[in-house]
Amino acid sequence: MANSDAYMITDRDYLRTRQYRTDANLAARQSIYRFQRPRVDLPAAVLGLAGLTGMEAIADVGCGNGVYLAALARRGHAGAAIGVDLSPGMLRAARAAAGQARLVVGDAAALPIRDGAADVTLAATMLHHVPDRQAAARELRRVTRDGGQVLAVLNGTGHLAELCDLVTRAAADIGLADVVWAASEGLTGGLSLDEGEELLGGVFGSVQRHDFRAELELPRPEPVLEYIASMRSTQGVDDPQRLVDAASRHIRPAPDGVVRIRTWTGCLVCR
Ligand SMILES: C[S@@+](CC[C@H](N)C(=O)[O-])C[C@H]1O[C@@H](n2cnc3c(N)ncnc32)[C@H](O)[C@@H]1O
Repeated sequence: MANSDAYMITDRDYLRTRQYRTDANLAARQSIYRFQRPRVDLPAAVLGLAGLTGMEAIADVGCGNGVYLAALARRGHAGAAIGVDLSPGMLRAARAAAGQARLVVGDAAALPIRDGAADVTLAATMLHHVPDRQAAARELRRVTRDGGQVLAVLNGTGHLAELCDLVTRAAADIGLADVVWAASEGLTGGLSLDEGEELLGGVFGSVQRHDFRAELELPRPEPVLEYIASMRSTQGVDDPQRLVDAASRHIRPAPDGVVRIRTWTGCLVCR
């Protein structure tokens, strides 16, 4: 591999200039959830846990292409909202969806937000990207007012297990032994829901966990292959298409022709 995967997960330069230069990779991964059964509308479910009145000041850290800000706008949220992301390209992609929210380039480990400014702070599927997670957890606490809440979303161990297994088999087939990340870490990115619970438990007085488990039911393999092509591990090998082609040979639909892949995501509500 060109870079070790563990390095790339938290490499700000890689994240800003390649993986999240635009929202194309994230959008390829988001689009696979149209095959989820039962369908979990994660932004709606997460915001539902916050018990919002509609007037809260909200900070969305690592807001990406703005799916949580868009969900807030759809709810008619009237309080101030700010989206912060490391990548200017992601913020450009977020602009159309993000309603009235301010969008600011910034790092979760040193947020451009004053102490206690947010009633509710979101950190959805992003803490695994921050090299100093303790610093990020402290920043989430700092920018959230006393009595407010932080909602962190992370993947459970076993999220997309079948997809990880497929990538591992495909990589072994073409002699890419380094792509063992899939078997060892799954798609938690190296910070699982369990680990996140422990991390945030060290910073907040209480952490309540909500798990969302479902399954992708894919009638054809193409969305799986597009997802694999979007992943940093695939993009880190010398010939990504060769790995995608190997995955296409190894994909095993069930006898009914459907490819089934488990999903497991959770939200940690921290107060
Ligand atoms: C997997 S995406 C999640 C986006 C969005 N929160 C969602 O759930 O759809 C991770 C996002 O975190 C951003 N990110 C990565 N490291 C960051 C950091 N240190 N500070 C702020 N944002 C970061 C990336 O640019 C990317 O937009």
